[in-house]
Amino acid sequence: MDLNWLFLFPMNGAAILFTAVAIMGGLVAYLYGPHWKVRKVPGPPTRPLIGHLHLMAKYGPDLFTLLAKKYGPIYRYHMGRQPLIIIADAELCREVGTRKAKEIPHRSIPSPITAAPIHQKGIFFSRDEQWSTMRSTVTSFFHTSSLSTMIPTMQSFIESATQIFDSHAQTQQDMDFSKFSIKLATDVVGQASFGVDFGLSKPHSTINTTKDGCDEATQFINQHIFNTTNLKMDLSGSLSIIIGLVLPILQEPCRQILKRIPGTMDWKLERGYRDLGGRLDRIVEKRMEEEKGRTSKDYLSVLLSGRERKQNYLTQEYISALAYEQLLTGSATVAFSMSSIIYLVAAHPHVEKKLLEEIDGFGPKDKTPTLEDLKDKFPYLEQVIHESMRYIPSSPLIARETATDVEIGGYLLPKGAWVWLCIGALLMDPKNFPEPEKFKPERFDPNCEEMKQRHPSAFLPFGIGSRTCTGKQFAQQEIKLTMIHLYRRYVFRHSSNMEYPLEFTYGLIRSFKNGVKVRVIKRNID
Ligand code: HEM
Repeated sequence: MDLNWLFLFPMNGAAILFTAVAIMGGLVAYLYGPHWKVRKVPGPPTRPLIGHLHLMAKYGPDLFTLLAKKYGPIYRYHMGRQPLIIIADAELCREVGTRKAKEIPHRSIPSPITAAPIHQKGIFFSRDEQWSTMRSTVTSFFHTSSLSTMIPTMQSFIESATQIFDSHAQTQQDMDFSKFSIKLATDVVGQASFGVDFGLSKPHSTINTTKDGCDEATQFINQHIFNTTNLKMDLSGSLSIIIGLVLPILQEPCRQILKRIPGTMDWKLERGYRDLGGRLDRIVEKRMEEEKGRTSKDYLSVLLSGRERKQNYLTQEYISALAYEQLLTGSATVAFSMSSIIYLVAAHPHVEKKLLEEIDGFGPKDKTPTLEDLKDKFPYLEQVIHESMRYIPSSPLIARETATDVEIGGYLLPKGAWVWLCIGALLMDPKNFPEPEKFKPERFDPNCEEMKQRHPSAFLPFGIGSRTCTGKQFAQQEIKLTMIHLYRRYVFRHSSNMEYPLEFTYGLIRSFKNGVKVRVIKRNID
């Protein structure tokens, strides 16, 4: 073979060395660039490539509280290559969330989301005008006037589930309350938002069954739960997500390859998103055809009428993403909070007693509370809900990203820095919550000294500032109605199959690893 052509492109040793050094330099700059820009912020020593992920694997999210004790109210945590500036102080949280909200307006997009296009187009991860247009469009759905019209819908789903509880009470079989609550919350948000009855929380599903024996809605919800719980932020996610944590530049190429290899987690997630997206597209398309003669206003109607004014921002793709986001945010977080309440009240008989007294005092079992009743007549229930959200927070971290250079806590942070508010650490800080390991709903009594002394930004279960949760009132209304309905009829005890201490999994939203298994006891009151 003639290899003389090789010598037409002579490359001397110096050139090879220069190229190798340039590549190495580029790689080092890529890997350590983000770290270098925030190096002055204190933090534990990092490991090459994985940063502090090994610490997260060892301690779980408690790590953030442990690091706050050691490094103070502002410190660095490295999620692989990406440094996060963690804020673990109420006053600094207020500064980031409100006073400097203009300089820190975005939510940062972690690698699990980069792998999930359907999530990126919702309000949660949108930015600038796309975000403000979508947020202002959906606001009317959450107005007090709309919320009061949702009470009958919520109430009817809760009531229809009574049979399920009765049968558990009768047979004395364990009930996994967290499984029930995700079905209930999905049904409620499905009906209130899209006018669709998934029928998941009914004793016998009324929906058509497909050939494989699994009804459409169940398949939908299974897929939705699978995809949501597998968006992990640590080293237990799909391979492309793990690669994204270490070398973000390679995440998308890897995902493109892995999603074509049957059996891999990326393949499963991709199939799930395609399917979920397809189902939502069909719901949206159908509604676009039907919309004209429609009088009742649900979430989809609000979006579709917003689309007439803001066509560029509310394309069908975005509307489907918003519909999915509504389903996800409206179900998982609410279900988690309801399950925490049931679990914690069952473990504290004196709280249960006081709660039952308040609920029974409201009136006969079939009297449905109005929106005003929910606001004024159940102060102790509200305290129980708040204390449960403090004790087992569903979202211990709130993600933000700087849009410009900005000074926080004495450190100059560059544009693009990820600033995460560690609200979970604030909830366990004795400065804000004396004896934080105790479950004490009374600490949320507005007249008690502890509440008066507490920093206003020490308890932020629904976030802070302009990006605060849009569904706060909706969620609180649903949780209160459900608890009132259930505690009028039942009390709950931990099953002997329930693990102690509780175990969780951490994805986009925290969930109970083994569910909340309880025994249902029917109350003998009329
Ligand atoms: C107990 C239930 C819930 C909890 C604990 C919760 C918590 C949160 C938190 C902590 C945030 C981040 C706020 C921030 O960054 O400052 C958030 C944002 C959000 N939540 Fe909720 N949420 C709940 C229920 C809901 C419901 C029912 C919906 C809708 C039906 C919803 C929709 C949203 C949306 C769209 C955002 C993004 C807002 C934006 O970026 O502008 N959430 N939620």
